[in-house]
Amino acid sequence: MKVLSVVGARPQLVKLAAIASAFAETSHEHVIVHTGQHYDADLSDVFFDGLGIPAPDVHLGVGSGSHGVQTGAVLAAMDKVLEAERPDWVLVYGDTNSTVAGALSAVKMHLPVAHLEAGLRSFNRRMPEEHNRVLTDHCADLLLAPTEEAVRHLANEGLGKRTRLVGDVMVDICLRIRDAVAAGQHPAPALPEGIDPAAPFLLATLHRPDNTDAPERLSALIASLASLPVPVALLAHPRLVARADEHGIKLAQGSVHVGRPLPYAGLVAAVMASAGVVTDSGGLQKETFLLGRPCTTIRPETEWVETLRDEWNILVPDPQDKTREAWAAVATRPAPRVSQGTPYGDGQAARSVVRVLEQS
Ligand code: UD1
Repeated sequence: MKVLSVVGARPQLVKLAAIASAFAETSHEHVIVHTGQHYDADLSDVFFDGLGIPAPDVHLGVGSGSHGVQTGAVLAAMDKVLEAERPDWVLVYGDTNSTVAGALSAVKMHLPVAHLEAGLRSFNRRMPEEHNRVLTDHCADLLLAPTEEAVRHLANEGLGKRTRLVGDVMVDICLRIRDAVAAGQHPAPALPEGIDPAAPFLLATLHRPDNTDAPERLSALIASLASLPVPVALLAHPRLVARADEHGIKLAQGSVHVGRPLPYAGLVAAVMASAGVVTDSGGLQKETFLLGRPCTTIRPETEWVETLRDEWNILVPDPQDKTREAWAAVATRPAPRVSQGTPYGDGQAARSVVRVLEQS
């Protein structure tokens, strides 16, 4: 069997690490196509190096652009690659512009498409990822769902017959790296200057357009982080840095200490060292849950509803709606005392993916 994976953005590289390592245990051929949606070393190269992913076989180099330009560039470049490779399966991951473009180019060439992390829904049509998920699910032949909730969403949309529950491949990698960090196999993460890893601190990330792109919203969010009573290590995505520069908003203020995005093992180690996380990232919400730290999510909804149980994760659409004390109490609360359970599977999801592809 020949499987061609299409990836392009940071979270897809983590999922690819799990899949590439499962394929390495088999005699199947696994071809990796990197669209180039993320090209900064911090967002791409360090994941290949740090997670032992084989170098991409093909690099499309599409880079940044508006949604149409970026999606279109991937579409235009994929035909030739698919024609040359003719895989048995095209595997697309998650919900980025690279995902929908990879899926669409493959179905148009009558190549079977499998969607990993199928069935997630925020029901928020303002999110670019929501269109990408729905369109990808409806054009794919095989829907690899991470959770029972995702299976239910797909069934509700008439896609039950194409759906298989495989678990979440991010768990495979997150738990593997957690154990390696705990065993001292990774150096201490490069936290922003001014953060003492031995004292309580919060880890924060913000990158969603709804949070970064309007200047009033962004400056209110930074002010809320700045007002917290513990140091905040803000790992700044390039979009956040670019928008803050554009609007003259200073990120390093009050409690906020700014650093660069971390490689995956560094991120896992930083979450483990932290007292909790404040984020708008889907992946980080779940990693925080898996690593047993409380998460506060700056969004009105989440696709990962299982994290909300017992307040492991709390949604705060707008910290300014709370008094300063109430916001501080939510963001700095201790971890719940009840166990998280295992709603995302047992860390063997990538092997299940390979098995399902073999059998389908
Ligand atoms: C993308 C995904 C999002 C995912 C996120 C993970 C879509 C619609 N969004 O969002 O689902 O959670 O990746 O990080 O696909 N930039 C750089 N260097 C890079 C890449 C981007 O500087 O290597 C800057 C550019 O200014 C670019 C902006 O970041 O315009 C946004 O990048 P883009 O890939 O369009 O979306 P993300 O916000 O990263």
